[in-house]
Amino acid sequence: MEQYIIKGGKPLRGDVVISGAKNAALGILAAAIMADETVTIDNLPNVRDINVLLQAIEGIGAKVDRISDHVVKINGKGIASVDIDYEYIRKIRASYYLLGALLGKYKKSHVALPGGCNIGSRPIDQHIKGFKALGADVKIEQGMISTCAEHLVGNHIYMDVVSVGATINIMLASCLAEGKTIIENAAKEPHIVDVANFLNSMGANIKGAGTDVIRIVGVDKLHGSEYSIIPDQIEAGTFMMAAAATRGDVLVKNVIPKHLEAITAKLVEIGATVEELDDSVRVIGDKRLANTHVKTLPYPGFPTDMQPQITALLALSKGTSVVTESIFENRFKYVDELNRMGANIMVEGNSAIIDGVEGFTGAMVSAPDLRAGAALVIAALVAEGFTIIDHIHFVERGYEAFEEKMEKLGACMDKIDVEDEKAVQKFKLKVG
Ligand code: UD1
Repeated sequence: MEQYIIKGGKPLRGDVVISGAKNAALGILAAAIMADETVTIDNLPNVRDINVLLQAIEGIGAKVDRISDHVVKINGKGIASVDIDYEYIRKIRASYYLLGALLGKYKKSHVALPGGCNIGSRPIDQHIKGFKALGADVKIEQGMISTCAEHLVGNHIYMDVVSVGATINIMLASCLAEGKTIIENAAKEPHIVDVANFLNSMGANIKGAGTDVIRIVGVDKLHGSEYSIIPDQIEAGTFMMAAAATRGDVLVKNVIPKHLEAITAKLVEIGATVEELDDSVRVIGDKRLANTHVKTLPYPGFPTDMQPQITALLALSKGTSVVTESIFENRFKYVDELNRMGANIMVEGNSAIIDGVEGFTGAMVSAPDLRAGAALVIAALVAEGFTIIDHIHFVERGYEAFEEKMEKLGACMDKIDVEDEKAVQKFKLKVG
């Protein structure tokens, strides 16, 4: 098992290059199996979730050729099975995109049912509602969800909640259905647009992605394509928060500034300087920032995947801030860990009430999930002394070379092996 060790107190300075968007890549990889021709995907983030999904895809018989860390070729011609077992779903929920992709292509799929997770219960009723509306029979038995249909036929589907996953799954299944599908109250996240653009590059006919009404006209088949994934807005946002928290000056490169507007607006509101350039943003945090209120909302609102990181930042700001989580029910588990580092945060219902403190002190803490782990890294970069963060496998699900990118910005951060008794000592000697 590995841990991060961080000596805090150094402002981050320099450039960081953002990787491809994990959440877009998950939908795109599932979509890639829907053609019988080769699809080449570039700007793939080299993170654990992606590597697990590639194994799942290979496991059902697709040809997966990893050309390099960031490029993969996939050919779905040889797919021999439509069964995805629990081993994959347990590691990565988004394997359930294969439900929609396989249903669209082969008119059947058999995928282990995802359970809840560390951020709360996560129903998939809207995915099921969509598949049924397209004419599929959907059954849940022995922990598996099975779909099958004679024909899939387009339909008018109104989503009861705005769901990224259900919107993508229904887009996948319906692009090879007969006739027209309309998804109303669709999610509008940049990765929805990216998955739709990718499917269109394979010959699908999807219009309106990025608005709340998506119109899909089914086609007979999809063909090969070459596609480059958009940059990861959450990875970018995390570095932006880290720059502001450490009172640094960081140029966050390879981003689409439009996707970062909700994050940029909050940083500016509390007093950080954010300069938007063509495909980068520069964040300068030269003073203690002010308080604010934040409520997570579907895009273009403030992303729930940035909630822990901004909470870490506001815990250091002047005055009292309130952060309200409106997407997931249990996303404040990390607050106790931040409090162990000296933060003063109280959780009441779905809000965190934050009394800003002047600084944190290093401690031994544990990452409860992916984005909360990133928030603990931000806190540790600011904290006086050494912090050790456990369970970093969560963080590695979604951040490529996190410690290397942080180190390049001047952070004293390393990954150590728990078994190596001398690792802490070696790190302390190295950083002084
Ligand atoms: C995706 C992202 C995740 C992000 C989340 C919200 C991926 C792989 N993951 O997750 O990082 O935090 O969007 O931006 O892209 N819901 C239902 N029924 C459903 C589906 C969802 O009630 O059938 C509810 C959920 O419980 C949640 C809300 O809808 O309260 C939003 O969930 P959803 O957008 O589906 O999140 P994911 O796609 O799982």
